[in-house]
Amino acid sequence: MAAPRNAPQIVEILRRNAAREFAAARSLPPAIYHDADIFAMEVERIFYRDWICIGRLGEIPDAGDYVAVDIVGRPVFVVRQKDMSVKAFSNVCPHRGSRLVDDCGRARRFVCPYHSWTYDLDGRLTGAPFMHDTPGFSVDNVRLRELRCTQWQGFVYVSLDPDAEPFASHMAELDAQVGKYEFSDYVPVHTETEIWNANWKCLVENYMDVYHLHRVHADSFGKYGGFEQSTCFFPGNDYFCYHYVQEDGSEHSVAAHPDNERLQGEDRHRTWLINLFPSHTVQLQPDLLWYLSILPLSAGSLRVRWSVSVPQDFLDDPDGGEQHVRENLELLMQVNREDRLAVERVHGGTAEPSATPGPLSSLERNVWDFGRYLARRLCS
Ligand code: FES
Ligand SMILES: [Fe+2]
Repeated sequence: MAAPRNAPQIVEILRRNAAREFAAARSLPPAIYHDADIFAMEVERIFYRDWICIGRLGEIPDAGDYVAVDIVGRPVFVVRQKDMSVKAFSNVCPHRGSRLVDDCGRARRFVCPYHSWTYDLDGRLTGAPFMHDTPGFSVDNVRLRELRCTQWQGFVYVSLDPDAEPFASHMAELDAQVGKYEFSDYVPVHTETEIWNANWKCLVENYMDVYHLHRVHADSFGKYGGFEQSTCFFPGNDYFCYHYVQEDGSEHSVAAHPDNERLQGEDRHRTWLINLFPSHTVQLQPDLLWYLSILPLSAGSLRVRWSVSVPQDFLDDPDGGEQHVRENLELLMQVNREDRLAVERVHGGTAEPSATPGPLSSLERNVWDFGRYLARRLCS
């Protein structure tokens, strides 16, 4: 198969690959990670339509706590309200377009850094200096543009599409599998934001790829081996794909805290890996939660916000809770470094113009599920 040279050819290969049986599955056409027209399609059809994870409720626990991100050039922020609900707004001042806030923090109100228009936490304009002699102007007629905002298991999502399907309406299958972990109560202990030199899809695929563990993570996750035999995959749908890794409760196994009486049997030693399309990846364990919210900056660069949360029972444990947090953070930072090297290498390799799709292993089932989601978004 010759390497495609333009977006229609790339889309056609994507369509053909997605139509195969999994046994004959191929990787994405390498040019899909680099083509400018494909990137523009992804922005319009995926990032400006689907639900995007902004962070966790636990990261904005008090009134006025906010997190701001750019969804590919569209600045947004979420903010905890006085009644503890969460609202999302366009992070653009309706006066002359300045961004209001950066990164994350806590505010009693939002004062625009350009001319000091002042907004309440609920988006109402409450003050606008020197505007009293502007005919017809009233603060009552101005407010920040509110966006669709929803929550799932402690995560906060925003959609730029006013007509986006309600998020909760398609989560029943996943809730039935992982709801028992009650991870909306896990407490955030560490958050980082990084810029990587790779296409966003390279990182999403990597997170859901069990095949690379034995090699890339030979010194971390892969040290004790066995993932290849103990992973159970579920077929992806329009909204997510996932699998779990079953451990046996032996010395190095993932394990629920002894005080945790909710989880029984194998659930106490199970790690779930979930990709909520397009780019929210989750590693859920009985003893921690690690998630990535991935946003493209360009076809060749991404911003990843990742955060680790821990169940309260570990934090309350005077005999090892601190050690549990410290050791897991060290481990995940190492895993993250290993993944970054691997992902940026894949991005670099796929830039080769003659690169073509390769066959997938059975351990890349969710990589294929992600490719089929992309086909549904890009091939219509
Ligand atoms: S742009 Fe915000 S007050 Fe002028
Ligand atoms: Fe990895």
